[in-house]
Amino acid sequence: MKYAIIGGTGVYNLRDNVKEIGVDTPYGRIEFTIMEKSGKEIIFLPRHGKGHGRPPHLINYLGNMWALKEYGVEFVFSTVAVGSTRTDIIPGDIVLINDFIDFTKSRPMTFYDGSDGVVHVSMAEPYCNMLGREIIKRIKYEIKNDIIYVCTEGPRFETAAEINFYRQIGGDVVGMTNVPEVVLAKELSMCYTAVGIVTNMCTGLSDQEASGAEIISIVNEKKEYIIDLFVDIILNGDLRTDTCDCRSSLIKV
Ligand code: HPA
Repeated sequence: MKYAIIGGTGVYNLRDNVKEIGVDTPYGRIEFTIMEKSGKEIIFLPRHGKGHGRPPHLINYLGNMWALKEYGVEFVFSTVAVGSTRTDIIPGDIVLINDFIDFTKSRPMTFYDGSDGVVHVSMAEPYCNMLGREIIKRIKYEIKNDIIYVCTEGPRFETAAEINFYRQIGGDVVGMTNVPEVVLAKELSMCYTAVGIVTNMCTGLSDQEASGAEIISIVNEKKEYIIDLFVDIILNGDLRTDTCDCRSSLIKV
C-alpha cells in the first residue's frame, strides 16, 4: 500500500526523506519525496512546489493528483492553512474539514473533460469518513470537527463583505487550495482527508491583518505534530478501502 501526505503553506518536507522521484503525467512532471517506514511507502508532495513557488490559482492540481494515483497511492492526507470566519475558532486551532463550498473561478477542475462521455462525481462525502475517524481517534490536541471550508480563488485575500457572506452561508474557515484537490482525489477513487491549521482571523474579524510571518509561524508550531499524526495513522491505523464511498463515487450518464 502507498500513502501520500500533501503539505500546504509552510509544510515543505518530511524529516526523514529517503529518496526523490519524479512522475511524468499528461499535465507535466511532478516531483515528490518518499519515506519508507515499516515496509510502507509514504509519499510527500509539497502542494505549492518546493519553497512555496506556485500561488493557489496556479497549482498543478491535475498533475499532482494524477501523479499520486499513477504511483499507486490509495490514501491521501493533507494539511491546509485557513482563516477563520468564527470567533470560537482562533489562530492555532486545528480543524478537520468535512465539507466545502466552492468559490474558485478559473482553475482546471476535472479529469472528465468529455472524452469518456459525461461523468459526474458524487460530493455526498467529499472527505473520506474512514480517514476522518482515524484522525479523531488518534489526535492528542483538541480538533474542531464538522468544519465547512470555503475555497476562494486567491491569491488575494477576501473583503470583509465577502467574509460576512461566507459566514452567513455556513462557511467556518476559508482557504484557497482545497478545491479542486479534494474533488480530483475522488475522481481518481483515492481516500482524501484535510486537516486545517487556523493561521488567522479572516478579514474584518480582527483589528490587524495577519502578516505572512505570523501565518508561517503558526503553521510551524503545528506542522510537525500533524505530520507525525498522519504517519502514526499510516503505520498503526485501521486503514481500509471497504468502509467508505471513495471508490464508488463516479456517476456515468
Ligand atoms: N483567506 C484565504 N486563505 C487563507 C486565509 C484567509 O484568511 N488564511 C490562510 N489561508
